[in-house]
Amino acid sequence: MKLHGTMTINEQGHLSIGGCDAVELAREFGTPLYVMDEEHLRAICREYYQSFVTKYPRNEVIYASKAFLTKAMARIIAQEKLGLDVVSGGELYTALEAGFPAEHIYFHGNNKSPEELSLALDSKIGRIIVDNLYELELLEGLCREKGVKAKILLRLQPGIEAHTHEYIQTGQIDSKFGMAIATGQAMEIVQRALAFDHVELKGLHCHIGSQIFEIASFKHAAEVMMDFLKRVQEETCRELSELNLGGGIGIYYAEDDTPAPIQEFAETIMNTVTEKANALQLKVPKIIIEPGRSIVGTVGTTLYTVGSIKNIPGIRTYVAVDGGMADNPRPALYQAKYEAALANKMQEAPTEVVSITGKCCESGDMLIWDIELPPVESGDILAVSCTGAYNYSMSSNYNRLPRPAVVLVRDGNADLIVARETYADLVRNDLVPARLK
Ligand code: LLP
Repeated sequence: MKLHGTMTINEQGHLSIGGCDAVELAREFGTPLYVMDEEHLRAICREYYQSFVTKYPRNEVIYASKAFLTKAMARIIAQEKLGLDVVSGGELYTALEAGFPAEHIYFHGNNKSPEELSLALDSKIGRIIVDNLYELELLEGLCREKGVKAKILLRLQPGIEAHTHEYIQTGQIDSKFGMAIATGQAMEIVQRALAFDHVELKGLHCHIGSQIFEIASFKHAAEVMMDFLKRVQEETCRELSELNLGGGIGIYYAEDDTPAPIQEFAETIMNTVTEKANALQLKVPKIIIEPGRSIVGTVGTTLYTVGSIKNIPGIRTYVAVDGGMADNPRPALYQAKYEAALANKMQEAPTEVVSITGKCCESGDMLIWDIELPPVESGDILAVSCTGAYNYSMSSNYNRLPRPAVVLVRDGNADLIVARETYADLVRNDLVPARLK
């Protein structure tokens, strides 16, 4: 397993994260446990800020909170001077509860409800990214009722098929998100927005997909969007000043993953936009990017306790842990690959190939197929790395498993930022009608 962030191997031969012994963390907080490396998180936030904002002060980096959001996370993001992308009333509520500055919140989503839009307007968030004509009209009506004007961006489809899993591809024409440039619907929604009195069109947005390694795909998207900004200027005499190019930068999960450095990504985007602006005689717009996975993915590690081990001679050894698809559905959903290590045997050489399975009642509940590990025994602590993004946020109570706790580690301190769910939590909202009593 590659060591990320502040991970080291300590004198006991144990995995250490943020100066905390992972075996001790497992003992103190129980397993499964999500461990978040604060120093590593802040270092990545700063790299983004320095590459995109220090050099180009009008720009903004907004963290896509769908990847991982808790109140403590929102506080760290605010302290690191990043904005926040939310996609639901729940994410918005979490951010507001954490005291996140509303003017730096961007609200996404292809089917925001009137209640969600109302909450966004009442809390005076920075931008609403309008996805479609239905939403544009809904928002205009709500703003008229409230006597306010909303600052909006429009989500467009640049028509780019980036190489990634089809479930997380979003920039192509046949997508539920945004209005396609190629079909003429993008220009139509721009014109409609400009004609409305209660929305102020600030700019455009696109997001081409997630876990993308080719910087060329982002470059291409930036070019297409700049060309469209020019067309908007020609056809409407309005020069829009903001361009949000979405998130989607790939990260290292396992050996074949080759992410580009953030700085290189930033330079490519900014050079492309600047060159295009010059060639098209446009002002360089404020560039907004919204990384989620690449901020928090490598920051998280999940600790599990090994339970049953079943060897099928000549076929496979199943090593079962006390979590699985309920705390990490990504292998089942996207065939995602992960690396792992035995946190209590970091210095022992690998001797066997085993497969890691969860405890859900379903054969598809596999976390890792065919991984080399030192001799595995029941009671060992298995650490799965790079689980910071889309794990806790996509976790479920399938099989009525309580969701794990989340602990934030730094300089040898470990603070709980999400308490482990209890059985009582699981039945908290259950109701038994009188006729069943
Ligand atoms: N902006 C928009 C509009 C998005 O839809 C997304 C992700 C992001 C930004 C952040 O993308 P990121 O930098 O995290 O790649 N559950 C899937 C990922 C779904 C991504 C959805 N949208 C997974 O576990 O791989």
